Amino acid sequence: MADASRLPWPDDSFTAVTCMDAFPFFPDQPAVLGEIFRVLRPGGRTVVSFAAEKLPDGVESRQTRGVTGTYRAISDATARRMVQAAGFERVTVSWASIAGDHQLIGRVLRLLGGDEMDIVIGHKPVGRAVSKYDALTRLLDDQGGPEVHLSFSEIADAVRGGLPASAYRRASWWANEPTGRHVQARAWTAAGWRTSHVDLSRHEVTFTRQT
Ligand SMILES: C[S@@+](CC[C@H](N)C(=O)[O-])C[C@H]1O[C@@H](n2cnc3c(N)ncnc32)[C@H](O)[C@@H]1O
Repeated sequence: MADASRLPWPDDSFTAVTCMDAFPFFPDQPAVLGEIFRVLRPGGRTVVSFAAEKLPDGVESRQTRGVTGTYRAISDATARRMVQAAGFERVTVSWASIAGDHQLIGRVLRLLGGDEMDIVIGHKPVGRAVSKYDALTRLLDDQGGPEVHLSFSEIADAVRGGLPASAYRRASWWANEPTGRHVQARAWTAAGWRTSHVDLSRHEVTFTRQT
């Protein structure tokens, strides 16, 4: 037995980690995902069920106190963001019936609130050094439109350790340089974006999708 937020195995130990019907009970969910990521080998995969209920649109999470402890259900979008923030890529969220083909059990479960469980799959990236700016890539990957405006503080919140002082002082920090010493530029150029406008006085940057 061990605490899921402090797994007793060395880095890169497993090819797959599953976590079924337990995640909503973990008090520090991002820490558990960080540990799953750590113990997986590059290329390894995790399968996690987050919450056996669908939350109404716009509700990010719901906390319930039950006999087995405090249970925190989160939305599909929150689950996806949390798994990506831990470093996973190719994240998918789908729903599967807990009752399988059993119609009676399915009906009883539906009356009790739902007969489906969400299944979230994520892959640990291979073949590339992990950069602190990968979080910015994931933030951009989540954007649908051709253009996205982000404040420096939104980016600093996503990137571990925040942004360096030069990002606030020099527009050249935001230059579209896919090679060279500007490792940060790879975070957006490799993801198919370029910076089209930087406003140092308002601490804002605009990214445009490359066609
Ligand atoms: C609903 S049970 C599901 C157990 C099992 N996955 C199954 O399908 O039978 C939830 C489990 O999460 C465990 N749990 C809660 N917090 C934990 C933590 N921080 N670390 C490890 N296990 C934890 C509880 O002890 C409980 O056994």
